[in-house]
Amino acid sequence: MATVAPVKDPGAPKPDHVPADRVYDVDMYALDGIEEGFHEAWKALQKPDTPSLVWTPRTGGHWIATRGAVIQEIYSNPDRFSSEIIFLPREAGEKYAMVPTRMDPPEHGPYRKILDKGLNLAQIRKVEEHVRSVAIELIEGFAAQGECLFERDYARIFPVKVFMAMCDLPMEDAPKLAELAEQMTRPAGNTPAEMGASLDAANQGFFAYVEPIIAARAGGQGDDLITVMVNSRIDDRPMDHDKVLGLISLLLLGGLDTVVNFLCFMMIYLAQHPEKVEELRSDPVKLMRSAEEMFRRFPVVSDARMVAHDMSYQGVELKRGDLILLPTALHGLEEASNPDAWDLDPGRKGIAHSTFGAGPHRCAGMHLARMEVIVTLQEWLKRIPDFGLKPGSKPTYRAGIIAAVDNVPLVWGNDAQLLFASK
Ligand code: HEM
Repeated sequence: MATVAPVKDPGAPKPDHVPADRVYDVDMYALDGIEEGFHEAWKALQKPDTPSLVWTPRTGGHWIATRGAVIQEIYSNPDRFSSEIIFLPREAGEKYAMVPTRMDPPEHGPYRKILDKGLNLAQIRKVEEHVRSVAIELIEGFAAQGECLFERDYARIFPVKVFMAMCDLPMEDAPKLAELAEQMTRPAGNTPAEMGASLDAANQGFFAYVEPIIAARAGGQGDDLITVMVNSRIDDRPMDHDKVLGLISLLLLGGLDTVVNFLCFMMIYLAQHPEKVEELRSDPVKLMRSAEEMFRRFPVVSDARMVAHDMSYQGVELKRGDLILLPTALHGLEEASNPDAWDLDPGRKGIAHSTFGAGPHRCAGMHLARMEVIVTLQEWLKRIPDFGLKPGSKPTYRAGIIAAVDNVPLVWGNDAQLLFASK
């Protein structure tokens, strides 16, 4: 991936303010080397001599931040780097109508308060028992079989089941929402215009789904997430209808796709590192504290910011409207930020990452995500203490705004021992 110029297909024309030596050929939706791993493919861009901001003609033409400190700084400074467009290509980002992800402060603040009301740590602690029961039921459903297809049998069900219950939505709606989320975060199409149309269709699909649910819950007394949010007020006034649509749709999008894929990355690694599994299993406190290291090691999001005004930054001139992609993989896996970054070290100190973003939009669902990861590890390792990837299998990866993983067959019992013995 990320071979230095010359660029074969010209893609978008290079704007005059982009220096020729900053042009790198990187397609965020089709990373070179993705067959060997999503994180490995992104990391190939992060060479010692790679500038901290590079520009690619792909996906409509945009900058890419390649250093952890720069990714974090851009996320943290909405005055200079606006959320007006956060999805690439620009044509897709302009159609993306989720609330409040495209708002900058101060407009963003009141909406964020509503999200936090439903997703703060105290609220999440209340659902822990339910989260645990979902995990146990799923794991016990296949533990005796000695194998599972992890994404199908666990990752794509567990967080979705938890979240659908929190929102009081029927589980049979989950596949439809998962399909819409797929279209939002890895939109179909070969051109920016086609990708924009695909994202727009997915966005409208979310709105059509939530519209009758919002109508039914307006004025209701339920304590599910949707009822709480629909009946929240902004500056003591009911929210505008389009804002409610955007807020509830974002809630569903955020809760569905991220944890699913994160869990797959985590389990692929653990399946190949029995010594890490042993370390976690033998020390329950370490296991509880390992979640932050897991998030550092397996970042999945690559979204963007729009340059708010012309400025000099990181040795280049940026123009208002320029888009900067922030691949969070390049923070958590950066050696300068986390020595021996490929190693998952459950006892690591001074962990640095942008897996949940940073600044005002920092992930509103991180307490839920953290709890889902810890519960999964606890309940899985109790019942399936040794496991490996099925011999001969190879997970497949897809890059996008959220990275996706397929084909994660896990085995345990005799098969797993054979696998470890052959290592
Ligand atoms: C491993 C799991 C997760 C990861 C890696 C993740 C990552 C992120 C990132 C990077 C952002 C910032 C986007 C930006 O600033 O442009 C974000 C925002 C957000 N996330 Fe998550 N997320 C995860 C799980 C969740 C869950 C379970 C929910 C549940 C609802 C959720 C809801 C949200 C919401 C609502 C926002 C928007 C916050 C705002 O705009 O103020 N996320 N997430």
